Amino acid sequence: MNFEIKYKDALGRIGKLKTPHGTVETPALMPVIHPGKQTIDVKKYGADMVITNAYIIYKNEELKNKAMENGIHNLINFDGPIVTDSGSFQLSVYGDIDVDNSEIIEFQENIGTDIGTSLDIPTPPYVKRERAERELQITLERAEEAINVRGNLMLNSVIQGSTFPDLRAKCAQVIGKMDFEVYPIGAVVPLLENYRYMDVLDIVMASVGNLPPSRPRHLMGAGHPMVFAFAVATGCDLYDSAAYILYAQDDRFMMPDGTYKLENLFHMPCSCEICANYTPDDLRGMKKEDRMKLIAAHNLNISFAEIRKIKQAIIDGNLLELVENRCRSHPYLLDALRGLKKYKNILEEYDPAYKKSAFFYSGPESLNRPEIYRHMKGLKKLPKKDKLVLLPAFKKPYSKNIENILLNNPEMENIHDLVGEMYKIHNLEINNPVLDESTQIAVVDYPFGIIPLEIDEVYPMAQNEAPSCLDEDSKKFIRDTINEYKDNFNEIIISERVIKKFDLDYKFKKSEESLKINLDDLNKIEYIADYQFGEGSGKALFNGKINVIKSKKTGKIRHIHDGDSLIATIRASDGIFVLSMEGARRLHNYLQYPKNRVVVNTDAEPFAKKGKSIFAKFVIDCDINIRANEEVLIVNEKDELLAFGKSLLNGREIMDFNVGQAVKTRKGGK
Ligand code: GUN
Ligand code: ZN
Repeated sequence: MNFEIKYKDALGRIGKLKTPHGTVETPALMPVIHPGKQTIDVKKYGADMVITNAYIIYKNEELKNKAMENGIHNLINFDGPIVTDSGSFQLSVYGDIDVDNSEIIEFQENIGTDIGTSLDIPTPPYVKRERAERELQITLERAEEAINVRGNLMLNSVIQGSTFPDLRAKCAQVIGKMDFEVYPIGAVVPLLENYRYMDVLDIVMASVGNLPPSRPRHLMGAGHPMVFAFAVATGCDLYDSAAYILYAQDDRFMMPDGTYKLENLFHMPCSCEICANYTPDDLRGMKKEDRMKLIAAHNLNISFAEIRKIKQAIIDGNLLELVENRCRSHPYLLDALRGLKKYKNILEEYDPAYKKSAFFYSGPESLNRPEIYRHMKGLKKLPKKDKLVLLPAFKKPYSKNIENILLNNPEMENIHDLVGEMYKIHNLEINNPVLDESTQIAVVDYPFGIIPLEIDEVYPMAQNEAPSCLDEDSKKFIRDTINEYKDNFNEIIISERVIKKFDLDYKFKKSEESLKINLDDLNKIEYIADYQFGEGSGKALFNGKINVIKSKKTGKIRHIHDGDSLIATIRASDGIFVLSMEGARRLHNYLQYPKNRVVVNTDAEPFAKKGKSIFAKFVIDCDINIRANEEVLIVNEKDELLAFGKSLLNGREIMDFNVGQAVKTRKGGK
């Protein structure tokens, strides 16, 4: 296996792809090199890997002989990894080519290509289903043949299926089981050229969702920096650009927010060395060939800058914020962004559960982000209560501020004084008017909807910012959320401020009870544990002589002991528990196999016990519901607890990869 993941965000990843001519970091952009005519040194602009066309070389006697004699790296004068395409694209343009699949694969192997491509059939979008099926059948047969004729050549096998998501899915499933090193997604060029980003999204998701996560995917023909962030966030790792030169020949400047024509420019569009050293008039005054080279250099500069920006966003955990910004540069990209809503399940599955950066709301599309969807699911894990009290949001963290107001106002008797009149939903009868342990008290705020006070410091409930000016989509989102959540309770009591702010229209009856807030530490740590590890985990972890130790400086809960024994610590940055060995033991005792577990083989056992990190190749089983960056238990085949640590991948990735780290071990059990 040649690929491993270093960082993740959304469905995007920073990976390392190993080839015979070196290892490249993904996401990577491969400039297209013309084997006979290349005049631009793409390495100078940041290309670590390039792509060229084996069919063009094969068809030209002189190029062919040179490539056979001295190898392709010599032919195109590039010493890094070279990918070659097979002539499929020519097939899609000219309808016919005179080479067959096994011939072109052998040729690619003979000229020393790093990653070759089998001769897939790029079925155009919107064809009749019959044709898409027939051509897909041939693509699949050729994939199988490619595996058989190759020696050591790393191979691309292209996903086809036109605009039929089920055919794309089938193709991905079938060739995903074969041993290809890279899975390109093909025949999207006509869609990209026509800004059909919604269709591209559906194709990418149907493919990515059915491919093994352990292999890189190449979105073939995607070379405009406008689409990179979006495509990375949906799981595409490799890009190729002939666009940098084609646009330059046409006097067009690529930018991450669109394209600028030289004829319209009064000012250069960026700060790269071309834009800093020339004016539009300088360029217009030049010979075509000279100008073309300079614009191509700008196009490469800006494209690689965008790739770097995307990588930083993955590391920071705010890739989807970059995507939301980029998608505002074209209405059809905005369509695709909105279309992500359809894929919230898979996005949530691959998105890390905890991140370094705060959640910034950039508009209604942010409501579809995995963090919010995950929170809705997390609410279901909390201890079951009879009554729900919904309060308006104050400054974050909510509980602290509510507590402060109550403590600092000795005159204040109950929540009525704080939040105005309380109303109950009319058709629910109130039996017991006193707030007690059967009541959940939550704040209503957007974009996270309902935030029980106990978990208001858990990521990202305290680590988010939204504009104070509320939009209609958010109002509706809050109404829908309350509507769905209220069915878990027998009684709902709502502050009039919440009713007014979000335009709730239930039949309300004024509630006359005296509502007191009592924020109890034990209750709080149980809630956090249940939210993090699942229902009942809090009670299992925190029994005995529980002693809650708070930070002298911040007043926040830091450590939880049973007598002298440390059970867990709350991490200040994201409010979640990091276990001690004793905490891990208790959780292991409580949670049923395979929940929260990563199972390692006997070889890895001594390493795990010593606290060494767990490599994916040692894992024989795991909880498929694990998300990246969660606290997990490391066990052996007999489900004996060896250690615990932080998952670096999700469950499916841990199972599928056999290189790279899967769990960063915090502590072994000796
Ligand atoms: N380049 C752009 N699209 C395609 C495709 O579908 N297949 C191959 N092999 N190359 C491409
Ligand atoms: Zn520039």
